Amino acid sequence: MNKTASAKHSHSASPAPQVAISPEGERFPLPVAEDYANEFARLQELAARQRAEGREIVVVVGLGFVGAVMAAVVADAKDAQGRHTKFVIGMQRPSPRSFWKIPLINRGVAPMKSEDPEVDELIRRCVLEHHTLVATYTEEALKLADVVVVDVQCDYLKHDLGNVRTGFADMAALEASMETIARHVSPQALVLIETTVAPGTTEQIAYPIMVKAFRERSLCSAPLLAHSYERVMPGRHYVASIRDFWRVCSGVNEEAKQRVVKFLNEVLNTRDFPLTVLDRPVESETAKIIENSYRATILAFLDEWSQFAERNGVDLRKVIDAVRVRPTHSNLIFPGPGIGGYCLPKDGGLGVWAYKHIFGWSDDIFKITPQAIDINDTRSLHVAELVRDALRNMGKPVAVAEVLLLGASYREDVGDTRYSGSELIVRKLTEMGASVRAHDPYVDHWWELEAQDTYPTPGFSKARFFDRQEKLKDLRVTNDLDAALKGADAIVLAVRHAPYLKLDPDAVFRSVGKPFAIIDCFCILDDRKIKRYLELGCEVKGMGRGHIRRLKDEIRKP
Ligand SMILES: NC(=O)c1ccc[n+]([C@@H]2O[C@H](COP(=O)([O-])OP(=O)(O)OC[C@H]3O[C@@H](n4cnc5c(N)ncnc54)[C@H](O)[C@@H]3O)[C@@H](O)[C@H]2O)c1
Repeated sequence: MNKTASAKHSHSASPAPQVAISPEGERFPLPVAEDYANEFARLQELAARQRAEGREIVVVVGLGFVGAVMAAVVADAKDAQGRHTKFVIGMQRPSPRSFWKIPLINRGVAPMKSEDPEVDELIRRCVLEHHTLVATYTEEALKLADVVVVDVQCDYLKHDLGNVRTGFADMAALEASMETIARHVSPQALVLIETTVAPGTTEQIAYPIMVKAFRERSLCSAPLLAHSYERVMPGRHYVASIRDFWRVCSGVNEEAKQRVVKFLNEVLNTRDFPLTVLDRPVESETAKIIENSYRATILAFLDEWSQFAERNGVDLRKVIDAVRVRPTHSNLIFPGPGIGGYCLPKDGGLGVWAYKHIFGWSDDIFKITPQAIDINDTRSLHVAELVRDALRNMGKPVAVAEVLLLGASYREDVGDTRYSGSELIVRKLTEMGASVRAHDPYVDHWWELEAQDTYPTPGFSKARFFDRQEKLKDLRVTNDLDAALKGADAIVLAVRHAPYLKLDPDAVFRSVGKPFAIIDCFCILDDRKIKRYLELGCEVKGMGRGHIRRLKDEIRKP
């Protein structure tokens, strides 16, 4: 496909084509008008051959973090006789930002970096060995589908820092996808929305779009539209979190419901992880939003107790361990420096927004969910205060300090930096005049900083909430810990990455070369290590670690 595309391009007299650049820097010219007919002919031929072998054709729309792996999970599905049952066409719009994912997948290469080795292996196997997965840019692929799976993004964009209520659901990608799908699909095709959406979206936004488009095509049957949300977790069990995990689903009518149950039973491990089937899509959409709002709320709940602990000599780490012994309280979790990831900062917002903008209510029933998100979104700002205070105790103003941040991602042992608390720590410290450098063993590019003019969306970088952010475009995350430590005035332990749990105070001290401030945001240091840092002349502070003062008194007793 690429050869054809680039050969055609080099003979074309039209202006230079646009180019998509992969994260590794490889350049892929976007397809031009005359490429589309060839591409669709190629897919028609492939689909006809696969159908003749008894396989259903599944088109997955949106090849992002979720869609690319879901596409491969479906392409890998087998029946009881061990025969592949689906041929999957991954469909991705050919934008300069995303087109590169298509040629990479067609080479058998995963478009994203994952800590789960099964991601690379699964995509390679389906594309190159079993030939059950291809990727394309042409929406005409939808004409070939028995099933369409929608995995495009639905963002919740916030206007203010720490006020989720003034934000809004950005439905543009989802609405555009639904219109495209409805223009092309066969009326018998099942359309399954997996995107996390505002409750009400499937029945009140997507279904009407499809009905209208069907009417324009003079089709009188009801669209077979269903909803089943993803519970995928970045990390070492990424594939299993899609394939070997419980699912909730529902359909807009009985036939859609039966079709989605059949499809999910064929492609996921529902024998070990049975499906929950709900009556209406609004219930399955609400289940997803409640699931993530609940998690956001129990995390936010401990923010005030974390401050209480710091001010009153309490080690929250030990308190949480003590409380968790009760089986009814075993999911109490320490919140770390803010709650990031793609889902928890936005999903409750989708629910609050839907109440007003989809269902039309004008009163305000939400007290806990928005407040939990606001607390989580701003919790990390307190880290900058701890850095400032620790440095002040050492006689050094933060404005002349070299601060090393350990951990840029939102969660331990993953390279995903989306909405991480670390981003705000860097921004706040930079505003206060500190020079910040960052280390993360899993992150090569911190796009939120490097590409802050356009990422995550033009005009929506968190840079706009802080002063003096321009130079952060030049911040590059290093993987060389020893070099990063050298000469640091303050070290912020921001993420529980495995290598940070093992750090030995004496070795760190040798690498830094002098006493420094160390700020533990995630209960990484035990009392032995805290005491050792103090003995070495370092200043130690930690979120929720109010007992450090006591340890200091113990070792400094004459
Ligand atoms: N990433 C996670 O950890 C996670 C976990 C659970 C649920 N989810 C949900 O899954 C959904 C997808 O998330 P993601 O992380 O894969 O997002 P993503 O941004 O990585 O991927 C979305 C993809 O869809 C493509 N796209 C957008 N509009 C399109 C169109 N009209 N036609 C074809 N392609 C189009 C984009 O270019 C992109 O490649 C979201 O609703 C998210 O909330 C994500």
